[in-house]
Amino acid sequence: MRDAQAPITFYRKDYTAPNHRIKSTDLIFTLNPSRTKVESRLQFESWGETNPDNLPLELDGEDLELEKVLLNGKQLTSESYTQTASGLTIHNPGREGLLELTVYIQPDKNTRLEGLYVSNGNFFTQCEAQGFRRITYFPDRPDVLSQFTVTLIADKTTHPVSLSNGNLIEEKSLDDGLHQTRWEDPFPKPAYLFALVAGRFVCQEETIQKGDGKPALLQVWVEPGNLDKTDFAMQSLKKSIDWDRSRFGLDLDLDRFMIVATADFNMGAMENKGLNIFNTRFVFANPELATDVDFENVESVVGHEYFHNWTGNRVTCRDWFQLSLKEGLTVFRDQEFSADMMAEGLDVKQAESARAAKRIDDVKVLRAAQFPEDAGPMAHPIRPDSYQEINNFYTVTVYEKGAEVIRMQHTLLGETLFQRGMKIYFDRHDGQAVTCEDFVAAMETALQESHPELDLKQFRHWYAQAGTPEVFASWKQADDRLELTLKQSCRPTPGQATKPAFHIPVKLGFVDVASGNDMPLVLESNAAALHGDVLDFTQASETFVFTGLSKPVVPSLLRGFSAPVILHTAHNTEDLIFLAGHDNDPFNRWDACQKVYGKAIVDIYKSAGDTGSANTQAAVQVVGSLLQDAQLSDGFLALALQLPGEGTLLEAFEGLVDPVAMHFARTTLRDLLACTYAAEFNALYAERNLNGQPYEYNAIAASQRALKNVALSYLLAAGSEEELAIAQAQYAQANNMTDRMAALSNLVHTSAEKPAELADFFERFKLEPLVVDKWFMLQATIPASNENADTLQIIRDLLKHPAFTLKNPNRARSVLAAFAMQNPSVFHNHGGEGYALWADLVIELNTINPQVAARMARGLDRWTKLVPLLQDKARVQLERIFNTDKLSPDVREVIGKALD
Ligand code: ARG
Ligand code: ZN
Repeated sequence: MRDAQAPITFYRKDYTAPNHRIKSTDLIFTLNPSRTKVESRLQFESWGETNPDNLPLELDGEDLELEKVLLNGKQLTSESYTQTASGLTIHNPGREGLLELTVYIQPDKNTRLEGLYVSNGNFFTQCEAQGFRRITYFPDRPDVLSQFTVTLIADKTTHPVSLSNGNLIEEKSLDDGLHQTRWEDPFPKPAYLFALVAGRFVCQEETIQKGDGKPALLQVWVEPGNLDKTDFAMQSLKKSIDWDRSRFGLDLDLDRFMIVATADFNMGAMENKGLNIFNTRFVFANPELATDVDFENVESVVGHEYFHNWTGNRVTCRDWFQLSLKEGLTVFRDQEFSADMMAEGLDVKQAESARAAKRIDDVKVLRAAQFPEDAGPMAHPIRPDSYQEINNFYTVTVYEKGAEVIRMQHTLLGETLFQRGMKIYFDRHDGQAVTCEDFVAAMETALQESHPELDLKQFRHWYAQAGTPEVFASWKQADDRLELTLKQSCRPTPGQATKPAFHIPVKLGFVDVASGNDMPLVLESNAAALHGDVLDFTQASETFVFTGLSKPVVPSLLRGFSAPVILHTAHNTEDLIFLAGHDNDPFNRWDACQKVYGKAIVDIYKSAGDTGSANTQAAVQVVGSLLQDAQLSDGFLALALQLPGEGTLLEAFEGLVDPVAMHFARTTLRDLLACTYAAEFNALYAERNLNGQPYEYNAIAASQRALKNVALSYLLAAGSEEELAIAQAQYAQANNMTDRMAALSNLVHTSAEKPAELADFFERFKLEPLVVDKWFMLQATIPASNENADTLQIIRDLLKHPAFTLKNPNRARSVLAAFAMQNPSVFHNHGGEGYALWADLVIELNTINPQVAARMARGLDRWTKLVPLLQDKARVQLERIFNTDKLSPDVREVIGKALD
């Protein structure tokens, strides 16, 4: 680490059990925005029978004004406890007893949005990971599970609705215009799952029947005026409940399940027991205001938080190093839920295609965001060994790579054994706080019940080792045999120089060149390594000999992206063109297209704009074939026609890279394709244009719109007046946000002048914060290739717009994250002004909301991959942030690691 105030690092190996458990927690909140009183009664007892009698009771606490400490009814003198800036220690509390505390907090001063805070006059909490300690003194660690009873006292007129976890057991009016509700959560839980909400809200509600026939009340609470945006969230919740019961055999365990939306939220949503709190972004959805992608996200996040009720709440984490225990597993579950929902009601072929589209979307995120993280200064295993600020570890690695690690276990075991493993996991650990190891052990038991010879010993490296493994595949086919050689390696990551080989499940097929059919897989050597179409690849280097292959085949490897690795294959351009047209695995078919485009873009990049390479011609050929293939589903075609994103291209590039030049190389290929196939894209657009038909959100309609809008973006890339008019017409006539937004973003990103539609959009939607976010985001992502826009100046002006504020995380992200993470050609401009602007904003946000600031501070994670000119400019700004006064531990960890 570099100088500055020495940061504290927490290590997984240092875990020790607490001295005491808290059997029950009784809380009374007297809610007042500027001064809220929190009274607590904690019934504690010694953790272990063999614990000595005199162990201190340790409570965490931050920014609390302590008024009273009573032990077993007696006021404690100041010598019997120690109060510090981070907690309260009660000396000699005895083996068990009752501790009573009174503290005061200031919710309206809480701009960090951790703990109890005020948003638009209403009270909300966010306690994960360590926000409860900002509410009262408590052992704020996930292994302390306590039974909570909560009393909320609030003003009747300003805060008529007050909610907490579990069941409402009492509601009454008090004197002085106050009212009170009392809530009891039947399930013991760690403090990070505590929640309260109070304010002016309205709700949409419905009673459903649970698996056991008993009723449950479902509610979606929003601020008045927003009820017309809640239908889809309610539907999603009901679907989630049904799905978890039918696919995982897990039912709702509460009589009441509530979702509340707030505009001010650091993350996406939070799975507090029975009282999920959501960013409005993941609740609000109606056709006028939300795009198809927004609808998809609402469904998946509602599912995610609901699924946590079992994977996270019923079985929780022992410590925060185990975060992926609940997050990786729950992301896997929400991904499967979304895939099943998209495939619902479709025929077999369409369903396969819909599932593949979901898989492709998920892998795109992994490649664009997780691979860079795993190659950068913040790289960590899905189960980290250390952290300075735990909030910095709610990452794509813990979440998305964590889900891949669960998915691999699902692939290795198959659905039946995997579900058996889940059952073992719940049988063993329901009501406990456990580790990732406990999960793998349950899966291993399930595996060995039917395959005693197999184990997950080597598989466990996935939990311990950071970095994206690289797999190199080559083959020789002769006579009727094919020798497939796989090699693996993984580059060093912070603290991990060398790594033992991973257990990599490689799903594969051999595609017959003549017929396009898959050949049977017959493994001659180490035959036990093949399970169906999945090969266990476990050595640094291994050769597998397949037989029965007398006719030429092209291997299709890592089908469905069966492991989160970077695959390098010996496929030549011809092989890739073949797979792009014929692979029977839709994921790999898409991936073959992506590889061809990627090679073409790199050729153009390296030759400074030359489009004559064989790879470029191959890309033109692939797009031509895709456009002619009448068999393809709209969803697949939309995905297959899109070029790899800039983030993915930059990360995959070997050597130091210039993001501006890469942007122009990508644009060059896009424009070439657009001009070559102008007629085809025109026809495609016209065929898929549903203009005038009522909007409906469903997988088929959404993929039709997606394809139409991909066609539109090619049309605008070709860039004549006529095409501009098409986009203008689409904007004006749109009856839904998907089409309106697609038209507008194409206009704004490629058009010659500031289009009139931009002002119209703001006027139309200025009262809808989530849509105003889109308006900001759209402008912050205008690429360098739009010569008519000075995006940096546009951003500087946006920051002065009356609707802009850094205090609202969504609004802050709509400019700052959009610009620093989604607009490489402007962010990395050669003058360095992009970095300077970014640093200004990170520094400003650091004092307002350190957690969100630390996210934004990740913008230059990969600065050492940039060309030297840019590295110099990046370093200056990283150091400027690092040397800022009062740098939060959150931002300090991120920037410190980048500079190390
Ligand atoms: N557990 C939440 C989810 O994944 C995320 C909350 C994280 N919040 C935080 N401040 N780190 O759904
Ligand atoms: Zn989660």
